[in-house]
Amino acid sequence: MTPIVLVTGAAGRLGTYLHDRPPPGWTPRWTDLAAAEGIAAADVTDLEAMTGACRGATAVVHLAGIPTDADWPDLLHVNVTGTRTVLEAAHRQGVRRVVLAGSNHAVGFSPRGSGDLVEDPAPRPDSAYGFTKAAVEALGRWYADRGLEVVTLRIGSCRDRPNSTRMLGTWLSPADFSRLIGAALDGPVDGAALVWGVSANTRRWWSPDAGARLGYRPRDDAESHAASVDPGTAGPGDDRVGGRLPPAQASQPGRTRPVS
Ligand SMILES: NC(=O)c1ccc[n+]([C@@H]2O[C@H](COP(=O)([O-])OP(=O)(O)OC[C@H]3O[C@@H](n4cnc5c(N)ncnc54)[C@H](O)[C@@H]3O)[C@@H](O)[C@H]2O)c1
Repeated sequence: MTPIVLVTGAAGRLGTYLHDRPPPGWTPRWTDLAAAEGIAAADVTDLEAMTGACRGATAVVHLAGIPTDADWPDLLHVNVTGTRTVLEAAHRQGVRRVVLAGSNHAVGFSPRGSGDLVEDPAPRPDSAYGFTKAAVEALGRWYADRGLEVVTLRIGSCRDRPNSTRMLGTWLSPADFSRLIGAALDGPVDGAALVWGVSANTRRWWSPDAGARLGYRPRDDAESHAASVDPGTAGPGDDRVGGRLPPAQASQPGRTRPVS
């Protein structure tokens, strides 16, 4: 019998990518806020629900979250409390490993220097959303020190194809996302690991080292889509990890804007 991996956020973009290419050697248990075909309902902010969902699982891939800059209380509730709840449930159920969907926006204000950006620049969020993802990294470290193996992925721009010049460096293809999850589930981890989630892009500038240690071997390159990317999308923010700054009002109540 193959080991069980609980997947949260299964109905979302990344959950759907993973569903299309599930990790070999694992039996996924798909969950999201609402039930759908093949997906069970489990709110990641509900400790009882998550403890039940983790029963018998060997690993968790935690993808559920708000992937945009949004209202502060909502971001804290879903991204921070939700991640803490998932980790606590996994810890209580003796789950061995948890993979967390972090984001480049946790260090979004880090500037581009010469050569690759180091593996683990200190938290430097560029938005309320980025702050919650820095908190996700810290939560992962905390629970790793309590005995879990935790892999946090600083995901770049995961979508079908890159659609801006920035994404020619930050793109993570759906197939490489699946490879990354496979490595995060099976690769060697001593406590906590922090890994950039990016494809083998010619214009990549984030360190591949932690991913390589985990056994992540990306195969796709955004350059193959470069001809279809509008050069007008280039901007000064491309020299920061998180790209262009969000508008000042983005984190005010009632406002959202997509980030990736
Ligand atoms: N897509 C990217 O390029 C990208 C980049 C960096 C980080 N991430 C992170 O990856 C994760 C997944 O991103 P995505 O693009 O698939 O987002 P998405 O919005 O498409 O999917 C998120 C899923 O989480 C579910 N969800 C929300 N609140 C929940 C709750 N309380 N309980 C259970 N499920 C809940 C939603 O129903 C949704 O299906 C997010 O944490 C996001 O921050 C994504």
